[in-house]
Amino acid sequence: MSRNRSATGKVLAAIGGVLLVAALGPPALAAGGTKAQVEMWKANCKVCHQPKGQAKALSPSTLIGMQWERFFAKKFAKSHAELIHPEKNQPLGKVLTPELLDRLEKFLVDHAADSEQPMTCGK
Ligand code: HEC
Repeated sequence: MSRNRSATGKVLAAIGGVLLVAALGPPALAAGGTKAQVEMWKANCKVCHQPKGQAKALSPSTLIGMQWERFFAKKFAKSHAELIHPEKNQPLGKVLTPELLDRLEKFLVDHAADSEQPMTCGK
């Protein structure tokens, strides 16, 4: 019941999450993404969208290309720009430059559920 114990639990959960992501890396590469693309996805989206993260687990193949396009065209500004990046402690609208967003969108569309190389990135 002590505060310390629950803080330790959170730290252990966080470490577990990092190990899980590390363990899930290689199959994602085999599915066709470059290492840099996968790292970019993990650092900027999966950081929240993973099992035990603050949002539901997502992978490129969770959605079809058109849905990713709609997310970047419409939803990102409304639903994400103000969220705080958990590691950089800055709003996503600031961390994710237009150029980075374009690269993320291309990666996700290239590996969407209806693409030639759908990628699960572990989930
Ligand atoms: C700061 C944490 C965080 C980061 C980083 C983040 N998201 Fe989210 N995202 C959320 C939350 C919270 C929700 C709403 C609850 C849910 O769907 O689990 C959400 C919902 C979504 C949804 C479904 C709902 C919608 O708006 O369409 C998609 C798709 C999505 N995010 C994609 C992304 C992509 C792509 C990235 C990287 C560019 C990203 N997210 C980065 C927290 C985050």
